[in-house]
Amino acid sequence: MRILILCHAFNSLTQRLYVELAERGHALSLEFDVNDAVTREAVGLFGPDLVLAPFLKRAIPEDVWRRVPCLVVHPGPLGDRGPSALDWAVLEGAERWGVTLLQANGEMDAGDVWGSVPFAMREAPKASLYRHEVTEAAVAAVLDALERFAAGGKPTPVDPADPAVFGRARPAMRQADRAIDWSRDDTATVLRKIRSGDGMPGVRDRIGDREVSLFDARPEHSLRGTPGALVARCEGALCRATVDGAVWIGHLKPWDSEISLKLPAALVLGEEAARLPEAPGYRDLWYEEADGVGWLHFPFTNGAMSVRQCERLLAAYQAACRRDVRVIVLAGGDDFWSNGIHLNVIEAANSPADESWRTINAIDDLARAILTTGDKLTVAALAGNAGAGGVFLALAADRVWARGGVVLNPHYKGMGNLYGSEYWTYVLPRRAGEERARAVTEARLPMGAPEARRLGLLDEAFGRGVADFRAAVRDRARALAADPALPVLLEEKRRRRAEDEAVKPLEAYRAEELERMRLNFYGFDPSYHVARYNFTFKVPKSRTPLYLARHRILAPSWPSPAQRGR
Ligand code: COA
Repeated sequence: MRILILCHAFNSLTQRLYVELAERGHALSLEFDVNDAVTREAVGLFGPDLVLAPFLKRAIPEDVWRRVPCLVVHPGPLGDRGPSALDWAVLEGAERWGVTLLQANGEMDAGDVWGSVPFAMREAPKASLYRHEVTEAAVAAVLDALERFAAGGKPTPVDPADPAVFGRARPAMRQADRAIDWSRDDTATVLRKIRSGDGMPGVRDRIGDREVSLFDARPEHSLRGTPGALVARCEGALCRATVDGAVWIGHLKPWDSEISLKLPAALVLGEEAARLPEAPGYRDLWYEEADGVGWLHFPFTNGAMSVRQCERLLAAYQAACRRDVRVIVLAGGDDFWSNGIHLNVIEAANSPADESWRTINAIDDLARAILTTGDKLTVAALAGNAGAGGVFLALAADRVWARGGVVLNPHYKGMGNLYGSEYWTYVLPRRAGEERARAVTEARLPMGAPEARRLGLLDEAFGRGVADFRAAVRDRARALAADPALPVLLEEKRRRRAEDEAVKPLEAYRAEELERMRLNFYGFDPSYHVARYNFTFKVPKSRTPLYLARHRILAPSWPSPAQRGR
């Protein structure tokens, strides 16, 4: 089918649907919902069989939905309507929720239904639910609907008497709906309020004399204090007392300027945070060990890695290497494995160029430590997505395993033609071969697990959900550690590394990459700095890039990844 994807942004759900549909051989093109005229033009140029709208903030123009069936993904159960569906579900502590696929008509979220997939809610930030439960449900609903659409099926109106209809029309959530009253709200309420607006728009609040939005809230189990007062800090996070306990707040966005950046909380508060006593409790990096396997968990918010985070992870990795384990699993976080260098921290630095340089060197040091580990087998286990340098960092490991639904973005070019480092010029061709390596980095497109496997970027992809994946990784890693053939594997690994080193030293790869990166950071062309500014300040895109808007390229052809032999 010819499917035009219409979306506000090419976000994680849209990327996942894109790779699922491409995998099935559909002819895809994509347009950002910039305005009605652009949408009309895209439909005219592409002539789609249907329009799929996974993430829209505005209604589809009437002449478009009358002309072409438009399937809209709504992150709410049957009967639910409104722009803050998931926000309400989190705020009100719903136990079950769902995703509904509607055919657009004149009323927002009120069209006939192609399908609705329920799911159990989890205590987590809105964005995490979106990246997992909502995404899996949406993929199931869309794939099922497309089959029925192709067979001539039709959507059905919602029957209000149907017991499956447990949603209702809700207004857009306002800041007042999730405002925290620190003198009354208990920890569970504070967590629900902050999580209902996390990743965006956050909960607007005041800390001292600063107006901020709060993000990344986690419970604290022992610290106490006057409700609302800051009582401790841990890495970038701050601990704030509630009436019955305390919460950690990992990230803040200042409101005192027109435009602002989401940053580690302590960085935003500066002096005020520095005066707080340090206490453990905000866990973004930890090690555990079982059955000869060492596990490093590093659920850094948004998968972004600052100098400090890279250095802490390197120290934890080196400590793990000194343990009597045979396998080290680099587990990342549930939402992201890694998205490479921390662009927000870089943007906020006095010299973003210097901070970029320091950060890329810190992540390179970590990659080198993994690459040069000779006496353990290393496994990168991707439960969540990875992007840019985060993908190539994973490729430093001996084995790369991923959850079946992960989406990888193994390229840097989208960030102002950044050349990239993390020894990608060594690890990518080593796995994919020279030609495919070039194609991957030029493509700029997201990649699903099946394609990544065909290209050699992943060794295996398995598991439906995160828990399923983690359990399977545990079994496989345990089996590897117990494998009598492991010493032979390690011997082979050391031999291959030594051979590669003799052909071209790791440091030569790094020096060449960093030479190009130096130009990106300090050179005449400011593209990286402009792209980073636009990304971190979330400047809306004013047009769709041509690698997505295929209908804007003359004489297009749409081979599926399988047809391209990838
Ligand atoms: N540094 C800082 N923040 C990052 C980040 C990075 N490297 N990568 C992602 N984020 C943040 C986003 O700003 C967003 O923040 P929010 O919580 O305020 O919304 C959040 O992580 C989720 O990212 P988003 O872009 O919404 O997710 P996605 O699934 O739609 O897209 C990527 C994933 C990886 C394609 C996209 O995030 C990206 O291009 N990241 C930059 C990668 C990069 O260039 N790294 C530097 C070179 S190594």
